[in-house]
Amino acid sequence: MSDNRRGTVLVTGGAGYVGSHCCKSFAAAGWRVVVLDDLSRGFAEAVKWGPLVRARIDDRRAVEAALREYQPDLVAHFAAFAYVGESVERPELYYDNNSAGTLALLEAMRATDVRRLLFSSTCATYGHPTYLPIDEGHPQRPINPYGWSKFIIERMLEDYAVAHGFTSTALRYFNAAGCDPAGEIGENHDPETHVIPLALDAALGRGPAFRVNGFDFDTRDGSAIRDYIHVTDLADAHVRAAARLLDTAGADIINLGTGTGTSVLELVAAVERATGTPMQVERGHDGRAIRRCLSRRRRARGECWAGSRRIRTSTRSSAPPLPGGSRGPGDPNRSPGADRAERRDRRAAGRRRGA
Ligand SMILES: NC(=O)c1ccc[n+]([C@@H]2O[C@H](COP(=O)([O-])OP(=O)(O)OC[C@H]3O[C@@H](n4cnc5c(N)ncnc54)[C@H](O)[C@@H]3O)[C@@H](O)[C@H]2O)c1
Repeated sequence: MSDNRRGTVLVTGGAGYVGSHCCKSFAAAGWRVVVLDDLSRGFAEAVKWGPLVRARIDDRRAVEAALREYQPDLVAHFAAFAYVGESVERPELYYDNNSAGTLALLEAMRATDVRRLLFSSTCATYGHPTYLPIDEGHPQRPINPYGWSKFIIERMLEDYAVAHGFTSTALRYFNAAGCDPAGEIGENHDPETHVIPLALDAALGRGPAFRVNGFDFDTRDGSAIRDYIHVTDLADAHVRAAARLLDTAGADIINLGTGTGTSVLELVAAVERATGTPMQVERGHDGRAIRRCLSRRRRARGECWAGSRRIRTSTRSSAPPLPGGSRGPGDPNRSPGADRAERRDRRAAGRRRGA
């Protein structure tokens, strides 16, 4: 380990939503943070806790140079494209950027003898659940190229553990939500496809009416249920997983969720409470019910980590101004996501949900 308190972490995709929140938590826990991001979908303003190396993960020369210069104890790998709809329309982009890009990253790591990796995987690798709750042993049959592109990476990590002595943990996230409660960074996707920002924009009259797809699911109120995990909880889990990675071997997999499902209609109610505004809701198409929750198996073994922040915190930490509240324009605590409205007007409509 290097001479700083916890070690050095090179964070690919650290200028993005989840990556930047993780950088903040790593720095707070005493890690030296270095970000490697090509800014294709991230923002230089979100890189606040260490230097930015602007490069693609498949740029072998630049990545190897960064690994040699900073000698990280591990790589936390967030860099990816993550829009389900886009992956269906342009699968080549996802297999190239996510799967082939990660292969190049692994080869750069092997060439520089950096063999620990924390990987942002996704519950999209499971596909439709065959039983609930979904645990890590659930069969993996992704239903879109995004999920497959991540599934392939998990496979690579297992093979690199056996053949090349890599140590890795793939963290399969459920739905990331919320923002840094201190407002230093926010959620900023362009285009925005995530449900809470879309609901907030609808409630605040800055976006189209919020569309609820499916009222006929076999759930408590008929709308789809998902496990929303606050991004600060996700970040906390990464810091813990990183510390564990320093003392373990092999390729491991952990689901990250809260274990509590929230329906879309409950989310609408939470957004209305957070903004103090009734929302215009549109009925979209119907679909199949999907419930996703945290693995009980790992929880039972005491190995599991569960987020503590609930949906109320996620909507509040993402929400711009409450009447008389502290998140108004010009307020230092305003969520950076509040500036999305201006950009939204320029965006093409009709993009499908991401994951
Ligand atoms: N947001 C979620 O709910 C969620 C859920 C499950 C998994 N994930 C995974 O978490 C990770 C981060 O997601 P996010 O929501 O923060 O996305 P994001 O788009 O905000 O961040 C991704 C970052 O990676 C960078 N990037 C993309 N391709 C790159 C490349 N080839 N080289 C260098 N940098 C590159 C982008 O510029 C961006 O800063 C992704 O791997 C995603 O698959 C996210």
